[in-house]
Amino acid sequence: MMGGEKRVHTISSLLLFFFLIYIPYPAIAKKGSSSSSSSSHVVKYSPVDNYLIDCGSTQTTVLSDGRSFRSEGQSSSYLSTSENIQASVTSLSDSIASNDPSLLSPSLPLYQTARIFVEESTYSFFIARPGRHWVRFYFFPLPHPSYNLTSATFSVVTESTVLLHAFSVPSNNALVFKEYLVNVSSDRFSLKFQPQSKSIAFINAIEITSAPDTLISDTATTVSPVGDFNGIFNYALEVSYRLNVGGPPLTPYNDTLGRTWQPDLSFLKNPLMAQNVSISPSIVDYPSTGASAFIAPNSVYATANEMTNANVANPNFNVTWEMKVDPSYPYLIRLHFCDIVSKSLNDLYFNVYLNGMMAAPSLDLSTITGSLHTAHYQDFVLNSSAVGHGTIKVEVGPASNVPSGTPNAILNGLEVMKMSNEAGSLDGLFAVDGSSVGSWFSSSKLKIAAAIGLGMGVMAMLLLASVFVRWQKRPPGWEKRNSFSSWLLPLHAGQPASFKSSKSWSRGGGLWSKSKRKSSNSGFNSSAFGLGRSFSFAELQVATRNFDEKGILGVGGFGKVYMGDLQDGTKVAIKRGNPSSQQGINEFQTEIQMLSKLRHRHLVSLIGYCDENSEMILVYEYMANGPLRDHLYGSNLPPLTWKQRLEICIGAARGLHYLHTGAAQGIIHRDVKTTNILLDDKFVAKVADFGLSKTGPSMNQTHVSTAVKGSFGYLDPEYFRRQQLTEKSDIYSFGVVLFEVLCARPVINPALPREQVNLAEWAMQWHRKGLLEKIIDSHLQGSMSSGSLKKYVEAAEKCLAEYGVDRPSMGDVLWNLEYAMQLQEASTRIDPPEDKSSFMALQPQKEDDQSMYATTPAQSMYATTPASVTSGDDSGLDNNSQLFSQMGGFQGR
Ligand SMILES: *[C@@H]1O[C@H](CO)[C@@H](O)[C@H](O)[C@H]1NC(C)=O
Ligand SMILES: *[C@@H]1O[C@H](CO)[C@@H](O)[C@H](O)[C@H]1NC(C)=O
Ligand SMILES: *[C@@H]1O[C@H](CO)[C@@H](O)[C@H](O)[C@H]1NC(C)=O
Ligand SMILES: *[C@@H]1O[C@H](CO)[C@@H](O)[C@H](O)[C@H]1NC(C)=O
Ligand SMILES: *[C@@H]1O[C@H](CO)[C@@H](O)[C@H](O)[C@H]1NC(C)=O
Ligand SMILES: *[C@@H]1O[C@H](CO)[C@@H](O)[C@H](O)[C@H]1NC(C)=O
Ligand SMILES: *[C@@H]1O[C@H](CO)[C@@H](O)[C@H](O)[C@H]1NC(C)=O
Ligand SMILES: *[C@@H]1O[C@H](CO)[C@@H](O)[C@H](O)[C@H]1NC(C)=O
Ligand SMILES: *[C@@H]1O[C@H](CO)[C@@H](O)[C@H](O)[C@H]1NC(C)=O
Repeated sequence: MMGGEKRVHTISSLLLFFFLIYIPYPAIAKKGSSSSSSSSHVVKYSPVDNYLIDCGSTQTTVLSDGRSFRSEGQSSSYLSTSENIQASVTSLSDSIASNDPSLLSPSLPLYQTARIFVEESTYSFFIARPGRHWVRFYFFPLPHPSYNLTSATFSVVTESTVLLHAFSVPSNNALVFKEYLVNVSSDRFSLKFQPQSKSIAFINAIEITSAPDTLISDTATTVSPVGDFNGIFNYALEVSYRLNVGGPPLTPYNDTLGRTWQPDLSFLKNPLMAQNVSISPSIVDYPSTGASAFIAPNSVYATANEMTNANVANPNFNVTWEMKVDPSYPYLIRLHFCDIVSKSLNDLYFNVYLNGMMAAPSLDLSTITGSLHTAHYQDFVLNSSAVGHGTIKVEVGPASNVPSGTPNAILNGLEVMKMSNEAGSLDGLFAVDGSSVGSWFSSSKLKIAAAIGLGMGVMAMLLLASVFVRWQKRPPGWEKRNSFSSWLLPLHAGQPASFKSSKSWSRGGGLWSKSKRKSSNSGFNSSAFGLGRSFSFAELQVATRNFDEKGILGVGGFGKVYMGDLQDGTKVAIKRGNPSSQQGINEFQTEIQMLSKLRHRHLVSLIGYCDENSEMILVYEYMANGPLRDHLYGSNLPPLTWKQRLEICIGAARGLHYLHTGAAQGIIHRDVKTTNILLDDKFVAKVADFGLSKTGPSMNQTHVSTAVKGSFGYLDPEYFRRQQLTEKSDIYSFGVVLFEVLCARPVINPALPREQVNLAEWAMQWHRKGLLEKIIDSHLQGSMSSGSLKKYVEAAEKCLAEYGVDRPSMGDVLWNLEYAMQLQEASTRIDPPEDKSSFMALQPQKEDDQSMYATTPAQSMYATTPASVTSGDDSGLDNNSQLFSQMGGFQGR
């Protein structure tokens, strides 16, 4: 630990310390200190950290502004990569299109060479002075014999910020310059270049440079209502626009901080309403606090745009600038003012509006600065809802409520900086670790839903706390019985994600691993388990296009489910455990073992796994038609017919029946719901997500004591009360599913009147009144045989019995549903739809379960009508070979 690395570190710190002492920190230039004619290039700034790299270049590149960029050889120590691919051209002038040459020419040499990355590659830099740093990127797709840089798609991330996500250069052959201001808080700063799968990354030049602390202050003004915005240092910034209003372009040569300022003409909404004014830059005065030569060089303050013919009788209009921005981010807007138009103090009062909202009413520069031609700037924050239309509009106009003064309005400089979003990203909703931030939370309706969820969460917390007490009194051998892991534990309404990571809970609850995560592959011998396939991580990267966010089927507490294409063309669903989740490799193995034992036509199959690189990835068959719920309500899919619904329920019941009875000890699913019943391309139902499953009670026990888990609306009230898990809890949930399929509405709908919120209660109420027909999905009306409906409802009703002992077994439910199916088929085969009464005769006279199943005519009928419902392989275990040839899919929750 105390080896060479540390020592080197100390020495370099010492060197930097001397560096700091001997190179004096620059002072701010005062008015008049510039005597030379080339004016602004006066104030010197020596950044503490200053990494300038001309990637792919064989020699040092010195720009006209004097800055020297290191060559590939001089910078190779910063880069960790597995390849060395470079591209270069001798002259760029033929290849470039558009852009303002006056702005670009100084940096043109930087674009002539590039470095290409085929795999993730990282630049890391030692940071001597934490704080804001400029990060500047230069991109130009140079020609290369084997790589097409124009089609390169890649992301660039720092330790905490996504700078670029799935970025590729525009197709118009323009030079691309990106500039960021990030606050680096440690002594390390890295830039990861991450090519998308089958693509590459490249970079022409990089700058990492300390910015003065005074550059970005922590506070700004909010608009409408005007107030304070604090905490800007928490945000990474990307420079979107930097305009020298009314003046010429300024290059790094003109700005001691190496900034580039564009002219504003192309952003003026109506150029005829504005006219430029200027003074000699040397006249510009900086106040003792606030604006300085670092905030903007004096050549910015020395020019402005004012109102055209402003001195006529009653001028009343605004000068307006408009800039296109990405509307989903907040923006920091910096306005630079300097009164270079007034002849005397207190003669200029004007209003400043941002996106139509008053930002600075009756701005009076004289009072603020105390003198003319003195620099002043103001920072504003516009939140993303204020940037709703993707435009930032800055307007200045005369203040009408001020009687004295010349009606006029000015602006000298304008900067627009994008602020990082909740995900710590400046490009997209994905965080550095690949997790995403639900943008949908912005809608108020969903906020209500979230509040309800939170309430339920609190409730569940109390419950879980009581379980914790029970855990203390757990019976011996508990752990062995509950070995089934919850590695795939999804997020549930009742279970905030933070809960899972709480250490004390995971230790106390014992539901999650107590074993620490070992290094991957440790002692895990897959072939010993006879599991389908072990996938390499690379293989899955290819299959998912490097876990492309576009291919996400679902997201849960465990991580994400991606759609993937294996090399043989098989479509799969790939569930990638969040590497930061606390579940251990042991459970991952248990999970795979457990899942691999479950083979059934009506259970979603595990195809393989990957445990390379500390990854915990499961590969499932892909289910083309997604969750059953999507076919019931809430999407625009065509409604399912009654027969289809029956088939699906029967399939799901078979899957559950197999879970309950197929394995030696029986498995309780614990989270039966319509989103966990998936449909393949032929609408065959398969039960998915055994993440919450537990092995059932062993022979001499009646139940398993455990924390209440599951989904609200489906949760067995008895289980909820007693925290004792039996198969009958699954039966209850399945009963809810049956009603959900029949009524096609959410099981919990908080928007409805109180008695209707819970589908199970509501449906039972109507059923007791004998009026269930009234709440049946209108798409089904008229197409169902009444006998079939009656049988179905009977089954559902029995499932919802208050006490588990009164509920039927899954086998019973299955028979009832198959019976309902027979009645339906008989009615469509023999009967015209308007007369279904004759089939009532098929109804068993006795409602007693046992005798009914033994003697009903329907049963014998079923026996002679083979496999009309499903393909009838109710035999339980599928053969591996069969299994892998029928791979379908799996959809996230
Ligand atoms: C490079 O990729 C771009 C965009 O995909 C494409 O338009 C262009 O034709 C490709 N160039 C070559 C030489 O393949
Ligand atoms: C965003 O800004 C608008 C206008 O300034 C304001 O009305 C709104 O409350 C702000 N929203 C948030 C979430 O800060
Ligand atoms: C950078 O962030 C730290 C907190 O992480 C803060 O204390 C510091 O003031 C910030 N620096 C700047 C220049 O924003
Ligand atoms: C200022 O205005 C004059 C006259 O309209 C124009 O010729 C000149 O280009 C403008 N300068 C800038 C920097 O916009
Ligand atoms: C900016 O720098 C260029 C040289 O690159 C110089 O010609 C020009 O006069 C400078 N402009 C100002 C406003 O100082
Ligand atoms: C200037 O712009 C603001 C905001 O869009 C608007 O309210 C005001 O009426 C405008 N003033 C004039 C004179 O058009
Ligand atoms: C894995 O198990 C198989 C079969 O039990 C055995 O042949 C093989 O040597 C084992 N491999 C390792 C790396 O332990
Ligand atoms: C249940 O049976 C197992 C062996 O099958 C035994 O070890 C255990 O003690 C029994 N539990 C109870 C509560 O009787
Ligand atoms: C697997 O399938 C083969 C032929 O496809 C069959 O002979 C064998 O009995 C099957 N095994 C099981 C366990 O079903």
